[in-house]
Parts: sequence; structure tokens; C-alpha cells
Amino acid sequence: MVLGKGNLLKNKHTNMEIEEYKMKLLGKDRLREVIDLQQHVYDNLPNKDVLYMDSYEDMLSDMEEGAKVIGVLNSRNRIIAYRYIAFPGRDKRNMGYDIGLSPDELNKVVHLETTVVDPKYRGNDLQSLTLGAAKKMVTQQGYNHFLCTVSPYNFFSLYNIMKNGLKIKALKRKYGSSEDGDDGLWRFILHSDMQKNILNPVDLVISKWANLEMQRDLIEQGYIGYEIHKDSQQLNYIKFEEANF
Ligand SMILES: CC(C)(COP(=O)(O)OP(=O)(O)OC[C@H]1O[C@@H](n2cnc3c(N)ncnc32)[C@H](O)[C@@H]1OP(=O)(O)O)[C@@H](O)C(=O)NCCC(=O)NCCS
Repeated sequence: MVLGKGNLLKNKHTNMEIEEYKMKLLGKDRLREVIDLQQHVYDNLPNKDVLYMDSYEDMLSDMEEGAKVIGVLNSRNRIIAYRYIAFPGRDKRNMGYDIGLSPDELNKVVHLETTVVDPKYRGNDLQSLTLGAAKKMVTQQGYNHFLCTVSPYNFFSLYNIMKNGLKIKALKRKYGSSEDGDDGLWRFILHSDMQKNILNPVDLVISKWANLEMQRDLIEQGYIGYEIHKDSQQLNYIKFEEANF
């Protein structure tokens, strides 16, 4: 099934070329290529901490339990970007637990897991395009809570995710192997509830993007990271009359 198609720019800032793309759900038969692209993107990252790598085995078993991978294919049918989404149900990895979501809502949670774009194809808004396709697909199936993690050091991803309406609800270490998770990587947890409107704001605080200590204090006091400004790299934290979940 084709989820979208159009033109994009390859090598936008060097030898620019226009190329056709198609967006499709990928089958398990293309998982090796997905993992290869993830490795290529990781190898090219200046700060490796921003991308938590999924293994072939974990993704395969997740796909067997219903997880989906939306792929963007270039004119030669090569995967140039993908978005992996999962439905954790009541499993303990459900990030609904991290933000205090009511237990009745856990079955309506979608995890926006990993997204990568081949460096040659960056700047075509593919992170947002694949998110739009994912939202359309899963809201039709009755899911309304979107949750994801983003590294506080990954400005491009944070900006794109917040542009698409997800709000910062927690800042903690994730993916650690110790029992208390203290050896994990710092991650914002972002959430949006497609069924709920934002309630009355009571206070606004502006934080520098990189000031993690201040952001943690604000979240503890009940503020939500509401929007981020590209030029100033400032984040607006807002407190609402009641929490919006
Ligand atoms: C985050 C990511 C998916 C965004 O890719 P994208 O959808 O192509 O990004 P956008 O189209 O929004 O890019 C907007 C601008 O930022 C630039 N940009 C995007 N990601 C960039 C990066 N990692 N490094 C430098 N510049 C980047 C683009 O070139 C573009 O610049 P332009 O407007 O001058 O052309 C991509 O950077 C990536 O694959 N990063 C590594 C993996 C990752 O961090 N994934 C998210 C966590 S799972």
C-alpha cells in the first residue's frame, strides 16, 4: 500500500537533484535494509548518544507483534528513511507509565520509536511526513496517545517532534541496563493526546534549550514543554490549570 508519493531533493546543499519518492509500509523482508540504514546514519552522527540503536532481532519480534515500519523509497526502490512505530499495550516499556497516564489509556498508546533519514536526503521534512502518515494510519485504528523519546542534545528531532504537536512531559534516563536505569541516556519524553484539547494556561516560563536542570525543575513543578523556537533555541514551558492527560 502506498501511503504517499512525490518529489524530493537529494544532496540539497551540494549537487542538488530532484528525485521521486514513495512512502510505504515495509515488510519483514526489508528489515535487513532498515538496520543497514540505521547503521549508516549512526556512523555519520557526531554525537552517537542521540540515537539508541534497535537490533534486528528486537525489531523483528516487535513487527511480529504488530509494530509497523513506514519506509521512504527513492526512485531506485532504496530505503532512504523510515519511521518505526510500536503498540506497547500493557507491557512495562509503555511510556504511558513514565508520564502517569491512566491505566485505561495504555492500550491506546502508540510509541514513535526510531526515525532516521539518510544524510543525503535531509531537509525534505521526511521526519514530519512519515509522522503525518503514521498519525493518519493509527488514529483510524483508535489509538490517540502518541509518545516518544528525544535526546535533549538532538535539536533537529526535538524541533520536528514539537512542531507536530507533541509536548515535553518528562526528562529522565532511559534504555539503561541497571535496575534503577541510572546508566541510561538522558531523554525527554514527549506526548500528545489527539482527543484532548489544551486547557487554560496559568503560567509561562522560558528556558534555554540546553538548560536541562531548569527544565527538570519545571517539569517537577507541573510545567509542560510546550513549544520550541528555531532561531533562539528557546523552549516555552507552560503550566495549565490541570494536567492535560
Ligand atoms: C532527525 C532527522 C530524522 C531529521 O531529518 P529531516 O526530516 O530530513 O530534517 P528536516 O527536513 O526537518 O531538516 C530541516 C533542516 O535541518 C537540517 N538537518 C536535519 N537533520 C540534521 C542533522 N542531523 N544534522 C545537521 N543538519 C540537519 C536539514 O539539512 C535542513 O536544513 P535546510 O533547511 O537548510 O535544508 C535526521 O536528522 C536524522 O536522521 N538524524 C539522525 C537520527 C535521529 O536523530 N533520529 C531521531 C531520533 S530516533
